[in-house]
Amino acid sequence: MKVLVIGNGAREHALCRSLSLDPDVTALHCAPGNAGIAEVATLHAVDALDGKAVADLAVELAADLVVVGPEAPLVAGVADAVRARSIAVFGPSAEAAQLEGSKAFAKDVMAAAGVPTARSYLCTTAAEVDEALDAFGAPFVVKDDGLAAGKGVVVTEDVEAARRHALACGVAEGEQPGAGRVVIEEFLDGPEVSLFAVTDGESVVPLQPAQDFKRALDGDEGPNTGGMGAYSPLPWAEPGLVDEVLATVLQPTVDEMRRRGTPFSGLLYAGLAITSRGVRVIEFNARFGDPETQVVLARLKTPLAGLLHAAATGTLAALPPLRWSEGAAVTVVIASHGYPEAPRTGDAIEGLEEVAEQDAPDAYVLHAGTRRTEDGTVVSAGGRVLSVTGRGEDVAAARSRAYRAVARIHLDGSHHRTDIAGAL
Ligand code: AMP
Ligand code: GLY
Repeated sequence: MKVLVIGNGAREHALCRSLSLDPDVTALHCAPGNAGIAEVATLHAVDALDGKAVADLAVELAADLVVVGPEAPLVAGVADAVRARSIAVFGPSAEAAQLEGSKAFAKDVMAAAGVPTARSYLCTTAAEVDEALDAFGAPFVVKDDGLAAGKGVVVTEDVEAARRHALACGVAEGEQPGAGRVVIEEFLDGPEVSLFAVTDGESVVPLQPAQDFKRALDGDEGPNTGGMGAYSPLPWAEPGLVDEVLATVLQPTVDEMRRRGTPFSGLLYAGLAITSRGVRVIEFNARFGDPETQVVLARLKTPLAGLLHAAATGTLAALPPLRWSEGAAVTVVIASHGYPEAPRTGDAIEGLEEVAEQDAPDAYVLHAGTRRTEDGTVVSAGGRVLSVTGRGEDVAAARSRAYRAVARIHLDGSHHRTDIAGAL
């Protein structure tokens, strides 16, 4: 099978790593990729958001499967452009990707499907915002309706900050609707879980749950980020959690999307809160999560290409049950100086060879924002730079291997959390 992966983060490196280990994969390509992905796949300098360019590349490579990593190309219709050329693609249509692209759309689907989520109001004016904030009380949760790369949600005790965020999202001061709209919803307490499911629009195959650390600093302090680390499995989770979420969230959502004539195929990511009143959906994403994918795929024993191809071709029902390693995986993100506000790029990364020589295969480095310069040095090229992943017989063992590898890496001015999977 010839596979083309779209994207350039550590999630795509994790996908490419697993695909490169699948004996059915005869050729692996990635666009645009990064310095780490270049070690397992052939890179192509194609804009991930350009559907025609991606489809042309897939045709030129005679790809049997295209895997779209990030949300922005999906919402822009890149999967549709590839599908229109009769090439199997893992990733939803632009219409179905609205499950992630519009919080209001997701709420509408959840209401129709009877999926448990936070009560919410969709607001377009400041008057509506004030009413909704008043109705729920603190802590306030205000979400930009559209895609905002992890910056769209504000959770705050301060009503003025909540109001300011709504206005910053384009809600109008007067009576007339503004350019933007926000969803204001009830605050959900309890731990968060990321549960991914592979679906062909009909059958739904859940993966193993993971937990992400979204705040920049130890102790869940500091600003929200794309994710600073993750682990899987969750030793504290109820054994029936995955089956419950499959029955109450994942299958009903996939069924509702099919009923609407916009079937969802690809990766359905449920961001869940385990509240005192039961499981609630915080959000849906239409693609693999980053950095959770790094730990989930580290434990998946079933060859990845066959799984993704079955989802892309509507044949998931015939696939045997997934096989998982009994052990655990932990990933720690090394972020550049200034991330998330103003990431600095162009700093040399040292220690990658040492990890490869001394820690593999129990720990390895997945690249996010990296690039190789003409003289061969690997330098930082983004906010999240590396995702250092460790595996072990349990979370504690995986964690110590991940951190041992982190300690070998040097990136000037970088920061990482020291408490990933530390207090379970
Ligand atoms: P989202 O982009 O919807 O995943 O939101 C980003 C983060 O904001 C989530 O991971 C939660 O930590 C937090 N959040 C979102 N919605 C709520 C809510 N209703 N109650 C509490 N926290 C929330
Ligand atoms: N880790 C959060 C996300 O991928 O959206």
